[in-house]
Amino acid sequence: MTEQKLDRQPKSTTGKTDTEKSATGKPSTGKPRPEGNPNFLWRSGEMVEWDKATVHLSDLAWSAISAVFEGVRAYWNPESEQLYIFHLEAHLKRLFQSMKIMRMTSSFSKDELTAAFLQLLKANECKGDTYLQPLAYFGGGVPGYMAILEQPGEIVITTRAAASGLDEAKVVHCNVSSWSRITDNVMPPRAKAITNYQNSRYVSTESFINGYDFGIILNPNGKVSEAAYACIFLIRDGVAITPPLNAGILESITREALKDLLAKEMDIQVIERDVDRTELYLADEVFICGTAVEVQSVGSVDRYKVGDGEQGPVVSCLRKLFRDLVRGKDLTRAGWCTPVY
Ligand SMILES: Cc1ncc(COP(=O)(O)O)c(C=O)c1O
Repeated sequence: MTEQKLDRQPKSTTGKTDTEKSATGKPSTGKPRPEGNPNFLWRSGEMVEWDKATVHLSDLAWSAISAVFEGVRAYWNPESEQLYIFHLEAHLKRLFQSMKIMRMTSSFSKDELTAAFLQLLKANECKGDTYLQPLAYFGGGVPGYMAILEQPGEIVITTRAAASGLDEAKVVHCNVSSWSRITDNVMPPRAKAITNYQNSRYVSTESFINGYDFGIILNPNGKVSEAAYACIFLIRDGVAITPPLNAGILESITREALKDLLAKEMDIQVIERDVDRTELYLADEVFICGTAVEVQSVGSVDRYKVGDGEQGPVVSCLRKLFRDLVRGKDLTRAGWCTPVY
């Protein structure tokens, strides 16, 4: 562990831009800086002060090769002053699955990790929408390309403020990427592995350069897989269609939740099947879903307008149902939400 003092970001930057705060003299990106760091993170059984949670520089990159993680949201309900973690159990199940694929064991049970989530959110006094990220990796300076069999991973959980976008209707514009989706026998997409995100990054960068919000990735069979870091649905003639689990997708927790809402609350048939690129152009509605993006309408694909280019009726209703559930306003699926306080 290095004793050298790290030159860290100031604790609270409250919306100041890089230009206002830059000490480097480098050109500003003009983007607001993230909120200040939380007080603590959780590391393999201990609450650690944020600034003291360091690893040796020589671990950089190598420890990421076998690292797996989860992105989890917690939603604040101002009326009941309660914070709800969305589908924590499903996220922990998927974290353990990803660890198993990496041949990594856990020194902590799912119940112990649940307790850690609650402890950390309370310690950081999280009273607003929050993003939680558990990360599991082989520590100890072992190069990530070496075989490590059935050894426990270090587990770190971090929190950060992340406002939900579910209150404002947003339409995103997508391209079909020239990059292909990784495959099960190359980089298994159902493991939520850090290294898989190189694929997402190529796709996102291409989209950004060409003026799109999101890239949609085809698998090597030329069928629609998912968006760069979200799953995808289309509505055609009153039926919801989404690519199957073996199309190269991450086994998305939001996708499962939306399938349930579409079928049971909206009486819309959901079909999982291969999807052709041109079906996206002809769909009445297209939307992407995931923990980070939540549920967002797609207004166009490759500049083909989807429907009338605005948020369609199905996604509009779905977003409202989803929003009320995750904030604990609709308690019909209370088991999806873990209260913190
Ligand atoms: C590559 C990828 N696909 C799909 C998803 C959606 O998964 P989930 O709904 O579990 O967040 C994500 C988001 O985490 C993702 O990173």
